[in-house]
Amino acid sequence: MNERGSKRYDVLGIGVVAVDDLVYVDSYPTAEQKVRVLRRRRQCGGQTGTALVAAARLGSRAGYIGSLGDRDPLSRTVRRRFEREGIDLSHCVARPEARPYHSTIVVGRRPPTRTVFSSNDGHAGADPQLPAADVIRSTDVLLIDHHAIAGTRRAVDIARAAGVEVVADFERDPGEGFEDLLPLVGHLVLPERFAREWTSTDSAEKAVSRLWSHERRAVVVTCGADGCWYGDVETYETPRHLPAAKVDVVDTTGCGDVFHGAYCAGLAEGKTVDGCVRLASATAALKATRDGGQAGIPRREAVEQLLAAWNEAAR
Ligand SMILES: Nc1ncnc2c1ncn2[C@@H]1O[C@H](COP(=O)(O)OP(=O)(O)OP(=O)(O)O)[C@@H](O)[C@H]1O
Ligand SMILES: [Mg+2]
Repeated sequence: MNERGSKRYDVLGIGVVAVDDLVYVDSYPTAEQKVRVLRRRRQCGGQTGTALVAAARLGSRAGYIGSLGDRDPLSRTVRRRFEREGIDLSHCVARPEARPYHSTIVVGRRPPTRTVFSSNDGHAGADPQLPAADVIRSTDVLLIDHHAIAGTRRAVDIARAAGVEVVADFERDPGEGFEDLLPLVGHLVLPERFAREWTSTDSAEKAVSRLWSHERRAVVVTCGADGCWYGDVETYETPRHLPAAKVDVVDTTGCGDVFHGAYCAGLAEGKTVDGCVRLASATAALKATRDGGQAGIPRREAVEQLLAAWNEAAR
């Protein structure tokens, strides 16, 4: 493996990016009504998209290597956002038919509701043949998710052969190819619901042990406001629990994605699994204190302040 810092990228992401159109209404209607829209807002999201923004805000040299269209408005929105965050797009795969995921989310005030209408034409995330293998070898960490499994598998095979760390965010079983991909992931970072469902266990703690294999470096199961359980080669039989930071919660949209991005950033910096989990928890907790998915992601200084306060409290 190359020395840390000698690669061109710290973190490359190959999964899905999205554009969400939020429509705010007083209350969600029944069919056939006319409803006044209070506010509209467009924001970028997606598991990998939001994770890359988190890594970049923490100081990682991040890049996106999934596919996007080159002229359509949705792809251009994502490109502009990434460019503003300093996320490199020079090896993003440009395909005329590729698009981000697109959702319209109707947010009702009274009672609080979120109703999501989603579309995807099937051309999103990892390309089956691109980018070139050398690009994938040029990063410390590769972040994948459960979309476009064929292209993701190709990237993982190249990454593993080159000693690149692979971090995965799987929120569901996407079908063909998934079972073969799962054992190849070094750092499996899953939300509790899917981890428990996949392992048929009744707790996140047990799921960590079940998901462990000696091919891995870490298994982390995230449990929202209940923090996370995690294990490595020394602790997989008796997983550790890190409670979530107690914060004034405003909006938890994207906390899971932010956790992944910060975990990747920590890994690229050479942190231990323990260090990565702490960095990820602090970054995700701060995100929960602010409105918006990507807009609410904190910068490094604020995260270091929270980590320092944790260390102080633990003395
Ligand atoms: N209310 C909260 N307070 C503090 N930290 C939180 C809160 N919610 C989430 N987090 C942090 O974010 C991490 C990931 O959250 P969660 O387990 O909900 O991810 P997820 O289910 O993948 O959600 P997402 O839909 O955002 O992808 C948690 O392990 C925790 O560290
Ligand atoms: Mg998630």
